Amino acid sequence: MELCGTAASSVRAVFMVLQLGLTHIMAHQQQIGVEGKEVILNCKRHDKDVIWKYKYDAVSPATIIQLSTGKVFKGRTPMSDRSEINQNSKHLKVSNLRISDAGTYICECGSDSNSISLHVVKLTISSNGHFLPDDDLELTLTHNSHNPQPRFSITLFNSHNSIVTPDILQNEAPQKYVLKLKQLKTTDSGTWMCNMHSDSPSISQNISFNVKVLGFENTHLERMYAAADSTVTLSWHLNFQKIGWKKFFTGQLNWTQSKAVTLLDFNATADGQLRETKKSSQALFEIPEMQRDSTVKVKLPKIQLRHSGEYTCQLLYNRRYIQSKTELVVMQVSANPPGPLPKGAEMTLLCRVSSPIPSNVHLLWERVNGTQTDIKKSKQSETEVEVKVTAAGMWNCHLMEDNNMKLSLNYTVEEAPVWISYTVIGVIIGAGVLMFVLVCLGIMFGMSWQRRRQRAKRMARARQHLLEKKTCQCQHRMNK
Ligand SMILES: *[C@@H]1O[C@H](CO)[C@@H](O)[C@H](O)[C@H]1NC(C)=O
Ligand SMILES: *[C@@H]1O[C@H](CO)[C@@H](O)[C@H](O)[C@H]1NC(C)=O
Ligand SMILES: *[C@@H]1O[C@H](CO)[C@@H](O)[C@H](O)[C@H]1NC(C)=O
Ligand SMILES: *[C@@H]1O[C@H](CO)[C@@H](O)[C@H](O)[C@H]1NC(C)=O
Ligand SMILES: *[C@@H]1O[C@H](CO)[C@@H](O)[C@H](O)[C@H]1NC(C)=O
Repeated sequence: MELCGTAASSVRAVFMVLQLGLTHIMAHQQQIGVEGKEVILNCKRHDKDVIWKYKYDAVSPATIIQLSTGKVFKGRTPMSDRSEINQNSKHLKVSNLRISDAGTYICECGSDSNSISLHVVKLTISSNGHFLPDDDLELTLTHNSHNPQPRFSITLFNSHNSIVTPDILQNEAPQKYVLKLKQLKTTDSGTWMCNMHSDSPSISQNISFNVKVLGFENTHLERMYAAADSTVTLSWHLNFQKIGWKKFFTGQLNWTQSKAVTLLDFNATADGQLRETKKSSQALFEIPEMQRDSTVKVKLPKIQLRHSGEYTCQLLYNRRYIQSKTELVVMQVSANPPGPLPKGAEMTLLCRVSSPIPSNVHLLWERVNGTQTDIKKSKQSETEVEVKVTAAGMWNCHLMEDNNMKLSLNYTVEEAPVWISYTVIGVIIGAGVLMFVLVCLGIMFGMSWQRRRQRAKRMARARQHLLEKKTCQCQHRMNK
């Protein structure tokens, strides 16, 4: 077997002996590994041949792995099969750590050696790190360490790298700690850090873990006001792709007016895609294909009062659900009769909002002409308000929520052009003239008809006379 290192100076040799002696007096180098993960242990020497040994309690050290003239030999320790040695750096890598792997690891190089105390921590996150908003997270830390036994203080850093203070449910120090964090939010998704610190022996190490809180990315408007005839798209952005959620869940989009109607059913598979399972054939709605960007959408083209109601997107995971709701309120202004207003006529302007109307909402018609204002307000819980208008001008209907204007629609009353007014007058005069003519004609017709009837009567009488007297003089007189 080749010697570690070339002939060293005597000074250095003495120093090394001193250091070796110190190693036994002073605490070993300390390191923390996490169960199921891998750990890399440093050998201080980079010489050709090294032996890594494992020591547990008072039992004499056993060989884990040995590197000799470029060849690797494995020992019979429980971690030998999971160990590798780096030919250059001489680092020992132990994969798939077990809690029983805790103990002292010694890197030997001839008479030179360094040792490391490995503490193995088991980190258990409730629900396997998958949560819904408002869930509590429980973190259990157990560890198996041998001489010297550290007492850890634990600090938690959330996904934004801020320190959070958990409730300590159980503190069976030095072996077991149970921490609880209440009411997770979707923004808590990400990599968290758990710092384990001990003064004696001196240890400070970070262990990372992932937290995934399924939910909606946009904080939704709880109520949305829209003008009739506009096009509205309601969308819900799910965060599951962004947070790397790989578990199955289902979802549903409902529209509730007097009763609930399901517009869309979908599911998300482990490959992180949304798939539509069932789509409603309601003609009122357009439901676009599910997006690659994990968005659930419903489009309402040229909305009407009947589109109003509550739109709910629900996600169901593990027999529990979360919901995001938007209440859509539609507003409309109209005139009766529609069209321009002839001079002297009256029209009714109507402002309506879909029902049921939220209790803190009212409508307000307003016309401003110079400094003069005309206002009409709807009564409590009334869904419409109307004004009678006799002059041209622009009217605004404001939808007020408490004292805030949420939506405002205008209606411009136009004065009928002069020709329409003249036409109206013309028609009235024309109709008068026509009536007069008809009446005159009627009278004339009636008179001539009466005259003709009298003449016919007289003729009949004369004919009778002739038949009786048979004289032609008489007929001659009659014709005059
Ligand atoms: C542990 O992580 C925290 C937060 O990221 C950082 O502030 C601290 O320096 C880290 N400590 C060690 C020993 O890596
Ligand atoms: C959605 O509507 C269906 C009826 O169409 C109903 O069975 C279901 O419970 C509703 N879901 C939600 C989340 O309201
Ligand atoms: C999810 O949706 C797809 C597409 O409709 C369907 O084939 C699949 O069976 C659904 N998965 C489950 C578990 O319901
Ligand atoms: C505005 O008010 C003035 C004075 O009251 C009035 O003469 C005018 O006709 C009004 N304008 C409209 C468009 O009604
Ligand atoms: C009146 O409403 C129309 C559309 O509805 C809008 O384009 C216009 O700007 C409004 N006018 C005023 C003065 O608010």
